[in-house]
Amino acid sequence: MSRIDQLIGAMTLSEKLGQLTMTAAPYAVTGPFVAGDLSEGIKSGTIGNLLNLYGPEIVARTQRLAVEESRLGIPLLIGLDVIHGHRTLFPVPLAEAAMFDAALWTETAHAAAREAAADGVTMTFAPMCDVCRDPRWGRIVEGPGEDPFVGAAIAAAKVAGFQGKNLDGIAACAKHFAAYGAVMAGREYASTDISARTLHEVHLASFAAAVAAGVAAIMPAFTELDGVPMTANRELLQGYLRGQLGFEGVIISDYNAIAELMRHGVAADLAEAAALALNAGVDIDMMAEAYGDGLPVALERRLVTMDQIDAAVRRVLRLKERLGLFDDPYRSAGAESAADLAKRRVLARDAGAKSMVLLKNEKDVLPLTKPRRIALIGPLADAAQEMRGPWAAAAPLTGCATVLEGLRAALPDAEIEYALGVAIDGGAAEEAGGIAIAAALCDGADVIILCVGEAANMSGEAASRAHPHLPGQQQRLCDAIFEKAGGRPVITILFSGRPLIVPALVEKSAALLAAWFPGSEAGNAIVDLITGKVSPSGCTPVSWPRATGQIPVFFGERNGGRPINPADHYTSKYLDSENSPLFVFGDGLGYGRFAFSNLKLSATTLARSGTLAASVDVANEGGHTAEETVFLFCHDRLASVTRPLLELKGFAKITLAAGARGTVTLALKGTDLCFPGADLAPLFEPGEVEIFLGPAADRTRLVGATIRLVAD
Ligand code: GLC
Repeated sequence: MSRIDQLIGAMTLSEKLGQLTMTAAPYAVTGPFVAGDLSEGIKSGTIGNLLNLYGPEIVARTQRLAVEESRLGIPLLIGLDVIHGHRTLFPVPLAEAAMFDAALWTETAHAAAREAAADGVTMTFAPMCDVCRDPRWGRIVEGPGEDPFVGAAIAAAKVAGFQGKNLDGIAACAKHFAAYGAVMAGREYASTDISARTLHEVHLASFAAAVAAGVAAIMPAFTELDGVPMTANRELLQGYLRGQLGFEGVIISDYNAIAELMRHGVAADLAEAAALALNAGVDIDMMAEAYGDGLPVALERRLVTMDQIDAAVRRVLRLKERLGLFDDPYRSAGAESAADLAKRRVLARDAGAKSMVLLKNEKDVLPLTKPRRIALIGPLADAAQEMRGPWAAAAPLTGCATVLEGLRAALPDAEIEYALGVAIDGGAAEEAGGIAIAAALCDGADVIILCVGEAANMSGEAASRAHPHLPGQQQRLCDAIFEKAGGRPVITILFSGRPLIVPALVEKSAALLAAWFPGSEAGNAIVDLITGKVSPSGCTPVSWPRATGQIPVFFGERNGGRPINPADHYTSKYLDSENSPLFVFGDGLGYGRFAFSNLKLSATTLARSGTLAASVDVANEGGHTAEETVFLFCHDRLASVTRPLLELKGFAKITLAAGARGTVTLALKGTDLCFPGADLAPLFEPGEVEIFLGPAADRTRLVGATIRLVAD
């Protein structure tokens, strides 16, 4: 008999339910309430898993309570939101998405896992896989941006990075299943009401990729989808995840989500809530005490069976066994050396630079050329804490490199004058003085740098914004600086967890760098870019709306029956705005200037079982070595259901010296062109399909050709 069978055979109901319970320790606060002392629950076996605990000593001490003082000695799973780094912070996930570099996505996850494991963490609640096209939603910062292909690529890369081979890293937990990024009006925790088609075309791909990559766990979203809370969504958890995708891992509820089924209005009491969740396939109850208190009653009412409880316990014990916790419950990746930490800071600096997106660079004002006197202005210029972004795990409040520190380190001979200007979110009254002081700094400066944007807590969970603009009085500060600058160029560094609505800032800035929340090496990475040590290469993974009224705006829209036509009144348009976003998916400048030509296809027909190669010549006609991302899009003009105007099917990067040429080749498989048919089953439909390669989701900048899909 296996160890797991023996344990299940020996367990009391209370001990079984303990293995299905995850309780929060107080080392991080990630929910509306925290638990009290955990010792008795661990020793009695009624708490079998913890979250929000880290640190080698405290984890070992706590683990000892379970392993040496409980009746069966089953080790604890220790979970933490290691979302974009642990003690060393990498750029926030939306920023990392802009790197379009799967190897680097994996590398930063692996580095984070090493640091977290050294602190006794055995599971991270990441990757967050929620595709989102609504910048009002605060959690857009945690995800892959607007596109499902990117979401799938990141999910696979992050699972590999966190878990390593055979789970010798830490368990990953893909979240939040599913369509959380489609909350109504971008408002946190609101309902999601989307079509089954949108669910299949946009929101499931990243989870399917996570499962294919062997993700150990999945977390349902807080939200309801078409009237069914995800925590109780049997059709999608049992039917799709476990049935269709064959997911055999553990499903962990979100924080108190099982109890919240009562607020959703689908459970009369905790027993019914617990039964709904268990019947839907949720194995672990995070922080609701629903399984511990509700399942005994649910058993009595015959709402669930002991077999179902045993099956859930088995999955949890299996995960602990695969993590090696039974054989080495005090496992730790070993103390991190100073050399390890230094390596991770180098990685954070590299990822920081590659995640930032240069959205404007008028007259090549960047890179700077030997500035003599710099006026550095704004509330994000020397704000170490804000560089962390949301979900900063175990990273200290201080320690992130600021722009001011980065400039001083890189330009020791330059005279650097700094002024806050205004607070990040200050009121009109108390800010006038600061604006005047900041404006005065511009006198005599040959470079003026504005550092503006959001605070870290304006992004992430429970941080939706109805007006995703520059907060507080920052626009007034910017206007004063633009006016004072006269004809001198102003370089703007924009910090945010979302695309902000900043048309005026874009118009008046000579250069604008979207830095997002860059993490531990923020200031150094930014200065590497603006001084030309590194050429910017980030591409925005999400469209930047011109106005809140445009939301959602994204490249994968349908054509409709009356697509915009300026010559025709009765077509799809606004009276007061262009349809196009301020910046499209893929936009991002560098210090090179790339031209695309000579698209070649290895074949003009493609069967479902076939593969063709699409290649394009790329020339760097600029004056600096630079890196370009080449995207492969397709468009199925005529199909049995409408198809998006562009669908992303691949991307690759190329680095070229000034004046050099190269060729980028991307493979396209027939199965890549399957889409959900009228019955939502994957359909490969013979007919013509347009193929495009180029730098962004803008047909005017793509080179294209047509292929014909043919039956096998
Ligand atoms: C939070 C978040 C989830 C996180 C969990 C544990 O409420 O929704 O993303 O992993 O609780 O901290």
